Amino acid sequence: MASNWQPGGWRGLPAQQQPEYPDAAALDAVIDKLRTFPPPVFAGEAMAMRRKLADVCEGRAFLLQGGDCAESFAEFHPDNIRDTFRVLMQMSVVLTYGASVPVIKVGRMAGQFAKPRSAPTEAQGDVELPSYRGDIINGIDFEPAARVPDPARLLQAYSQAAATLNLLRAFAQGGYADLHAVQRWNLSFVEGTEAAARYRETAERIADALKFMEACGITGDAVQEVRHTDFYTSHEALHLPFEEALARQDTITQNGGWFATSAHMIWIGDRTRQLDGAHVEFARGVDNPIGMKCGPSLAPDELIRLIDRLNPGNEPGRLTLICRMGADKVLEHLPPLVRKVAAEGRKVVWSCDPMHGNTLKSGNGYKTRPFDRILAEVRGFFAVHQGEGTYAGGIHVEMTGKDVTECIGGAQLIDESRLGTRYHTHCDPRLNASQSLELSFLIAEMLKQRRVAEPPLKVAGAAE
Ligand code: PEP
Ligand code: CO
Repeated sequence: MASNWQPGGWRGLPAQQQPEYPDAAALDAVIDKLRTFPPPVFAGEAMAMRRKLADVCEGRAFLLQGGDCAESFAEFHPDNIRDTFRVLMQMSVVLTYGASVPVIKVGRMAGQFAKPRSAPTEAQGDVELPSYRGDIINGIDFEPAARVPDPARLLQAYSQAAATLNLLRAFAQGGYADLHAVQRWNLSFVEGTEAAARYRETAERIADALKFMEACGITGDAVQEVRHTDFYTSHEALHLPFEEALARQDTITQNGGWFATSAHMIWIGDRTRQLDGAHVEFARGVDNPIGMKCGPSLAPDELIRLIDRLNPGNEPGRLTLICRMGADKVLEHLPPLVRKVAAEGRKVVWSCDPMHGNTLKSGNGYKTRPFDRILAEVRGFFAVHQGEGTYAGGIHVEMTGKDVTECIGGAQLIDESRLGTRYHTHCDPRLNASQSLELSFLIAEMLKQRRVAEPPLKVAGAAE
């Protein structure tokens, strides 16, 4: 726990990307109400996640983080939650089975509402309105009333996040994630693609392995990992009054530390990671696992200062660096950061966000991301870590379980002309279920190659 820290200590510091509420008293009233609401997440869960991330930091596990760019009120539906959960489970099975590595599963879910924007206003024709900042703040419709920040949205966001988390916990612990169900997780619209066929093959092998284990007496009753899984939630801690209201002091398990109970893990975005800014100040004082986005403008010395502010005890699992350089920049910008962190002995998880540095506008006006650029950044990320002798520990993607057409390429060969068919995102373009699976097979290959490339374990006393 950081001493000299209070949940409201960020107030008075420069805070980027904060909405301006026309009625400050209405915001205060909502925040006061939120302070009295139950914490969605319990401190013990966040600490358990930290221990798992410490395994990633030490090269014994892999982090899979994914979900919507922006959750929305309009798409709040159990089927959407189920489908995203299901694809994350499939991706995790592909990675675990393909690369024999435990996977920490984390949703960009149950609270991923607030969005940083590159411009404060949006123009359509000669009309200019405040930008949409996520459903927790204002509405997406391009009309003046919708774009006014409304504090009542914080209550709706809390309630949607809590209900989403409740369903995710039920799926993870209540039988949906049972490994016996791997064959049923395939989504019908993915059928017919190569990724689906490969997934089915993997699922059949897992079913065989389970039968073998059961014949040996290793059943789901004896080994709970067969029937249950741990699934964590995360979001960008952008809306500081909301995060402050849900910051709670742990009175049960720890030594009185503060936790952000809005999610198991929170991260700081690339636009709000100023060393002396409000977001870093808030994050440094909560004991959750913290992520920080690292874009191409981040200098190695600045990174060390940020690491020391966020993880002064240099504890493995506390800090995850989520790199989002862009396919064309990763080989140039990532090595100096990785080298510096290794040379200074700082313990971090290195994760790759291959989405945010690879966004472009299609000829027909859609914000999109080419699948081959996404892949190229992941390949570059792995190559850099291989070259530096460090551990590529995770992947962070914007994806959905729905059959959307938002990113171009992949085995379904989505081209520009098809982007408009099912373009539903409230913010950035997401991988659809088929593209997500395809990506996970390619990452599993990279993880496997890494294993093969490692020198064989030397056994003490064995002849050379
Ligand atoms: C995001 O993750 O949705 C996001 C805005 O990312 P970044 O801060 O890396 O731009
Ligand atoms: Co995004």
